[in-house]
Amino acid sequence: MTGPSKRDGFSSKFGVIAAAAGSAVGLGNIWRFPYVAGENGGGAFLLVYLLFILSIGLPVMLSELLIGRRAQKNVFGAFRSLAPNKPIFMAVGIMGVGAAFMILSFYAVVAGWTLEYTYLAFGNSLSGMSAIELSEFFKDFSGSTKGPIVWMTVFMILTAGIVIGGVKNGIEKYTKVLMPLLLVIIIILCVKSISLGGAEAGLAFLFNPDFSKVTGSVILEALGQAFFSLSIGMGVIATYGSYIQKKENLLYTAVSVSFADTIIAVLAGVAIFPAVFAFGIDPSSGPGLVFETLPNVFNHMKGGYLFSVAFFILLVIAALTSSVSLLEVVVAYFTEELKLKRKSATLIAAASITCLGVLCVVSDKAFKLFDWTSSNILLPLGGILIAVFVGWILQKTDVKDELEAHGGKAYFVNVLILVLKFVAPLAIGAVFLKGLGLL
Ligand code: TRP
Repeated sequence: MTGPSKRDGFSSKFGVIAAAAGSAVGLGNIWRFPYVAGENGGGAFLLVYLLFILSIGLPVMLSELLIGRRAQKNVFGAFRSLAPNKPIFMAVGIMGVGAAFMILSFYAVVAGWTLEYTYLAFGNSLSGMSAIELSEFFKDFSGSTKGPIVWMTVFMILTAGIVIGGVKNGIEKYTKVLMPLLLVIIIILCVKSISLGGAEAGLAFLFNPDFSKVTGSVILEALGQAFFSLSIGMGVIATYGSYIQKKENLLYTAVSVSFADTIIAVLAGVAIFPAVFAFGIDPSSGPGLVFETLPNVFNHMKGGYLFSVAFFILLVIAALTSSVSLLEVVVAYFTEELKLKRKSATLIAAASITCLGVLCVVSDKAFKLFDWTSSNILLPLGGILIAVFVGWILQKTDVKDELEAHGGKAYFVNVLILVLKFVAPLAIGAVFLKGLGLL
């Protein structure tokens, strides 16, 4: 193996996909997708989102995997060694570490809500509440400080614990079994939700696009959500790519991960929107949407107690496999670039992120600012640089070497390079300017 010695690696093919899917599948699918789709008109948003996953998300994910595996380093080191005299690309690493800090600080807050709801589910405390009571309960809880801060801190301690454990023992083990289980529970929730009276309106909201609702800002939100959900644009996937063995096929990995991620987001939508309409909840009610909606479904289903406990535990785990990947980027930078020990790097990063998390708990403004800026600004900007890098800077022979070696096909390399050179950067740039009202 080239690159630094002693690099941790994934042991099996499924391990790689499980870990990358573990990063991608998380609160982004189950919490963020429904709330952002709900705020942006539903069906048309979904359509634009799917279009971006295919045309931009997939190529950028593949590029990240390729960069990481080629360089065998974290993003900073990767760009430094692959393009030594092009410091502009170091921006991906810098923005990436910044984005990881920002994302993790509100992500941990939402994961903290999930922990609280796991606790409540165990105690069966939400059963018997009406839809209105559940909404009020959520608002009171998320608006308070002590509970959310304690749970957020617990979540950061769990994340740091796994990251200190290292890649193979930490990440791979948990994802392999539990993600498929989460999928099963979501499918059961979909069936239940669709069978509620008044569910049709929810399905129509999600699947009947109303194009009059498509504005520049809706398109930008869809792009941001695609980046956020796939974990791309800041080097997380590149860092994972650096752990992937030479014998694995990167296209296969990218397609499987994007597919799994997208299916789970859409299914989460199918589980949530019928219930949103059945219980008279406002689809654009914001970050609380999932927490206000799903307990109603559990309250109306046989075995709701067990399902709610299992669902929230699995959601915490899905959040953990994502947060671990975010913290891993910062830790990889601290250890490989600043030469800190893994343990101190993790503790320093986790402690500072926890402080930012407190800021997100007490200030709605900070929460929204971090949420919006990271997805809609930092990740797409990183995406442009990543696409341009693989399209224009990296030698075509290197790209071919990474993609063709194990069953990859040459014609697709040519199409990919075309997309990376022109389509992705121009499309991201245009969406960006339009979304910000500059075009
Ligand atoms: N994709 C994860 C989710 O959907 C969140 C996440 C993890 C992420 N790592 C990331 C987002 C890196 C952007 C970049 O929950």
